[in-house]
Amino acid sequence: MTVNQELKDYLDRRFGQEDQVLHAIRTQTVAEGCPDIQVSIYSGRLLYLLAKIQNAKQILEIGTLGGYSTAWLAKALPAGGRLISLEINPDYVTKAQKHLHHFTQIKIDIRLGHAVDSLARLVEAKEGPFDLIFIDADKENNVLYLDWALELSRFGTLILIDNLIPKGEKVGYAGHPDAQTIYDFNDYLAQHPQLEIAAIPVLAGPQARLDSLAIARVTKNP
Ligand SMILES: C[S@@+](CC[C@H](N)C(=O)[O-])C[C@H]1O[C@@H](n2cnc3c(N)ncnc32)[C@H](O)[C@@H]1O
Repeated sequence: MTVNQELKDYLDRRFGQEDQVLHAIRTQTVAEGCPDIQVSIYSGRLLYLLAKIQNAKQILEIGTLGGYSTAWLAKALPAGGRLISLEINPDYVTKAQKHLHHFTQIKIDIRLGHAVDSLARLVEAKEGPFDLIFIDADKENNVLYLDWALELSRFGTLILIDNLIPKGEKVGYAGHPDAQTIYDFNDYLAQHPQLEIAAIPVLAGPQARLDSLAIARVTKNP
């Protein structure tokens, strides 16, 4: 499902702006051959605002790619803030590190490896709690990512999860490989006893596909 082009053009004119650094990271990521699966400008602006409203000083991201969403989150951090981003692909880690060199006032730490292993190490090393956690990696591990995110949370942590709507799907029709996984995860998320959740519609990808981002607030200590 995509939005009407006229509506998208209107929204782009009003709310589709990003600064030069963000623009360079988004376009370089694609020009360097990475898949164009970064958050949209609209979602980037939302991540930034949520991190600001949350007064976040410690942020964790799962799924870095070229560092575009990382940059939106980094922009929201005060001097001395810390952002850890987890990525399995060494080529993406190198690219993201290069793209994010502008952010010198904060500490950005991109960790290479399977996120499940990196998350376990973060818990073991007591590197939490984080103020905001953004989950945007492989969908089949989302339940595990959410469980680990809760371990790394405090009361009031915001956990954001992207892509609650499978690509190219009618609701309930699990033709896409990720679709059933996403529906199962949504069931798990929707009834989670430690979270208050709003699932909001967002426009994703170059075609402005209708997708949804979950904003979840941790209401009970893990
Ligand atoms: C949708 S992209 C992330 C996009 C990025 N958040 C942005 O908006 O700019 C998903 C990323 O998760 C990474 N990924 C996939 N499986 C992973 C895993 N098991 N552990 C860590 N990263 C993983 C992929 O390599 C890819 O870079």
